[in-house]
Amino acid sequence: MCGIVGFASRTTPAVGPLVSGLSRLEYRGYDSAGVALESADGIKVYKQAGKVSALDALLARALPEAERAKYTLGIAHTRWATHGLPTTANAHPHVADGGRLALVHNGIIENHAALRAGLEKRGVKFLSQTDTEVLAHLVAAFDKGDFLSAVCDALRRVDGTYGIAAISSRHPGEMVVARKGSPLVIGVGEKDVVVASDVSAIVAYTRQVIYLKDGDVARITPEGIDIHSLDNAPVSREVQEVDWDIGAIEKGGYEHFMLKEIFEQPDALANTIRGRLDPAGGTAILSGLGLSPRELAAVRRLVIVGCGTSLHAGMVGKYLFESLADVPTSPEQAAEFRYSNPIVGPDDWVVALSQSGETADTLAAVRESIRKGALVSALCNVVGSTIAREAGRGVYLHAGPEVSVASTKAFTAQVAALLMMALKLGRTRRLSREAGDRLAAEIARLPELVSAVLARNDEIAGVAERYAGADDMFFIGRGILYPAALEGALKVKEVAYVHAEGYQAAELKHGPIALLSDKTPVVALLADIPGQEKTLGNVQECRARMAPVIGVVTEGDGAAASAVTDALVVPRAGVELSPIVSVVALQLFAYHVARLRGCEIDQPRNLAKSVTVE
Ligand code: AGP
Repeated sequence: MCGIVGFASRTTPAVGPLVSGLSRLEYRGYDSAGVALESADGIKVYKQAGKVSALDALLARALPEAERAKYTLGIAHTRWATHGLPTTANAHPHVADGGRLALVHNGIIENHAALRAGLEKRGVKFLSQTDTEVLAHLVAAFDKGDFLSAVCDALRRVDGTYGIAAISSRHPGEMVVARKGSPLVIGVGEKDVVVASDVSAIVAYTRQVIYLKDGDVARITPEGIDIHSLDNAPVSREVQEVDWDIGAIEKGGYEHFMLKEIFEQPDALANTIRGRLDPAGGTAILSGLGLSPRELAAVRRLVIVGCGTSLHAGMVGKYLFESLADVPTSPEQAAEFRYSNPIVGPDDWVVALSQSGETADTLAAVRESIRKGALVSALCNVVGSTIAREAGRGVYLHAGPEVSVASTKAFTAQVAALLMMALKLGRTRRLSREAGDRLAAEIARLPELVSAVLARNDEIAGVAERYAGADDMFFIGRGILYPAALEGALKVKEVAYVHAEGYQAAELKHGPIALLSDKTPVVALLADIPGQEKTLGNVQECRARMAPVIGVVTEGDGAAASAVTDALVVPRAGVELSPIVSVVALQLFAYHVARLRGCEIDQPRNLAKSVTVE
C-alpha cells in the first residue's frame, strides 16, 4: 500500500530525508511518488508516475542543492493506485487553496463523490480523479486560521480510512497528520521530527517513536508534537523505543530482502521461541495471551482469521489445535469471515494472524469478533500495530522486520507461535506432561532443522533451474501439508509470476489431473509423516500422465526420493514441524525460479506488503 513520509526541522533540508524515507517504503508496492516542500516562498510540489528514483532525478533537475536549504519542512508519498490511474496527475501530494495547501493520504475516502459534488457546487475545480484531492480541498474549505482545527473539521465529515499529512503556507513551519485505519508513526528526533506510515522510514533518524491511534490528529513543528482527538481535545501518547536498528532493514549483503529473510529464519524462530517453552510443565509460556488455564480450558471452538500467507499459517493451525488440544478449529479468510455475519460468541476464541498487523480485512474481522463477544487474540510481527492493539492480547512473533513483499520468516514464525499455543491449550486438556515435554523439545530444535534446509540452498537452486521455464505448476499435499502446498504455490505466483495451484493431493484426480502433461511440473509434499503413502500414490498418477514431479522428501527416505523426478530434501521432523521445514524448501525453490526468470523479487508487480485497503 501507499507510503507516507513527513519531515520537520529548523535547520536540516527536508528533501534528502523525504526521498530516503520513500526509498525505505518502496517495498510496500507503488506506482508513483511525490514531495511537497514548504518555505517562506510558499509550497513547491514535485511528483510523477514511476519509481522513487525517477522522482529523485526530477528533483535533481528542478531543485538545485543550493536552493534545498530553505525547505526544512515537507511531506512525501508513494502511491498504490486505488482511485484513478497511476499518472502524474493522480500522484500525491494533492494541492488546494490555490497551491497554498498540500496533502498526502493513505486509505480510501468512501464518501468522496458526495464531498466532491459539494465542493464543486462551491466552485472548486479538481485536477485529478482521486479521493485524496477531495480531502485537500475540504481541509482548505475549513481553514479559518487554525490548521489542526481545519483538519479535524474536515475529517469529521469523512467516511472511510485515512493516514494523512498536510502542510500549508498559511501555517508556516507546521505539519498536521492524522490517522484512522491506516498507520502513522511519529519519530521524535534530537532536533527533527519524522512522520511515516511505517517505522522502517524512521529508524535511520531515531528509535524513539509514537504510534498514533485511530482518531488522533497531531500538529507537528520542529519544536514539538501536539496530539488531539478528532473533536480537538488534547490526547497524550507514550514515546516507545523501537527494538531493532537500521541494519535489520538493509540487505546485509544479500541480493534481495526475500533471500535475506529466508536465511534469517533460524534466528527469527529462535526469537519467536525464546522464553516461551516451559520444560518443567511440558507446556508453553505465552503471557501475552492474558488467559488463565481455566479460561483456556473453557474454549469450545477456535476460529483463525487471516489473509494470504497468514491464512495458510492459520490452516496449519487447524491441524495443530485439533490434534494437540482436541478443539474444533476453523481457519477463515478474513474478508469472507467479516462479511458473513459470523457465528461467533463468548465460547469462541478468535485468533487473528497478521505479519503487518494492518491488513484491513483482518482488522475488520477482529472488530466484528469483538462486537460479537468472542475472545480475541492476535499473532502479529509489527509491535504496536493496529490489529495487535485492538485485539488487546496475543503473541508477538519477534521475527524482526519483514521487508520483502513475499512473506517468508513470518509464516514459519506464525506456525511456531501457533504450535506453542496449541501445546499450551492441549496441556489444559488431555495432552500429558510427557507428551508436552517431547513436543517442547521438538519445537526447540526448529532453528537447527531450518538451518539444515538452508544448507541445501545450492541443490534447491539446481532443481529450480530445471523448472524455471514452466508456465504452470501444481503443488499437492495432504493433511497438515496441504496448507504448505498452498503456501508454496503462493510464493511461486507472487515472486516468479508462474501460474501455480495448490491442491489437496487427493483432489487432483477430481478434475485438475486433466491439465497434467510433461509441461506441468507437480511439486508433491512427501515429508515422511502419516498419509505419505497415499500422496505417493498420487505421485504415480501424475507421472503416468508424464508430468515431472518435484518431491519435498525427508532425508534418507529412499522410497520417496526414487518415486519422484527431482527431490528437495528436508531433515526428518515430527508431523507438527513438517510444514515449516517443507515450506522453507519451497521458499528457496520459488526464490530461485523467480531469480532465473529475472523477476523483480522484492517488489513484485501489483503487490503491496501490507494491504490496508479492503
Ligand atoms: C504473502 O507473501 C503476501 N505478501 C500476502 O499474501 C500477505 O501474506 C497477506 O497480504 C497478509 O498480510 P499480513 O500477514 O500482514 O496480514
